[in-house]
Amino acid sequence: MTVQQPASGPPRTMRSFVRRTGRVTRAQARALVQLWPRFGVEGEGVLDLDAVFARRAARFLEIGFGMGDALAAMAAADPQRDFLGIDVHEAGIGRLLTLAESAGLHNLRVLRGDAVVLLRERLAPASLDGVLIFFPDPWPKKRHHKRRLIQPAFIDLLARRLEPGALLHLATDWAPYAEQMLQVVEADGRWRNLAGPGCYAPDAGARPQTRFQSRGERLGHTIFDLRFRRED
Ligand SMILES: C[S@@+](CC[C@H](N)C(=O)[O-])C[C@H]1O[C@@H](n2cnc3c(N)ncnc32)[C@H](O)[C@@H]1O
Repeated sequence: MTVQQPASGPPRTMRSFVRRTGRVTRAQARALVQLWPRFGVEGEGVLDLDAVFARRAARFLEIGFGMGDALAAMAAADPQRDFLGIDVHEAGIGRLLTLAESAGLHNLRVLRGDAVVLLRERLAPASLDGVLIFFPDPWPKKRHHKRRLIQPAFIDLLARRLEPGALLHLATDWAPYAEQMLQVVEADGRWRNLAGPGCYAPDAGARPQTRFQSRGERLGHTIFDLRFRRED
């Protein structure tokens, strides 16, 4: 069978985000310039996380930290662990940098860009002790479902980047997406659902309240948390 190739150009990749040009406040703009050198991670190639954090500690990655409140709170509450965050949203990156500075956080580093690229190209196998994805864009319209982050190929990639025993914590206020999360992660076969097969977590665990959680609650949505351990 002949597979039709595009006439030219790189293959199109489906992204889970749209780049918003949203307003960046003066404080956020200042942080993006002045604080990025302290907390931001740049460069190319596989990251040496021991060098990034200047120590060896348990490492957690939050994907899509939004305005950064939950990530800053987790890093402040757990100084023995290191936290990496990635997002594409400039205002949110600026805000997280200001939170990191005002709390004097030494265990937080920030990346800008697509988490799929980070996981695929810049993180070594078994380099993370946990991945946290709180309220990823639910893409509610059927024609947009393919943009959802939690898909079989993405969960496969996570399984290869997480240490055996590592945590995967997902949360959403969109019931059909919660069902998809449960189905996709359990079908992968390398994860143990800490609440038991087919069950949602009974509570949020160590996850702080997030902005999108508050928004979901205002709309009367149920909040779903899902926690899994990467099996050996
Ligand atoms: C609905 S918001 C949730 C923000 C935050 N976690 C909260 O609960 O308030 C989703 C966030 O994920 C980010 N995002 C979506 N896809 C991403 C990707 N592939 N890589 C990095 N960030 C992504 C978006 O820019 C946005 O900030």
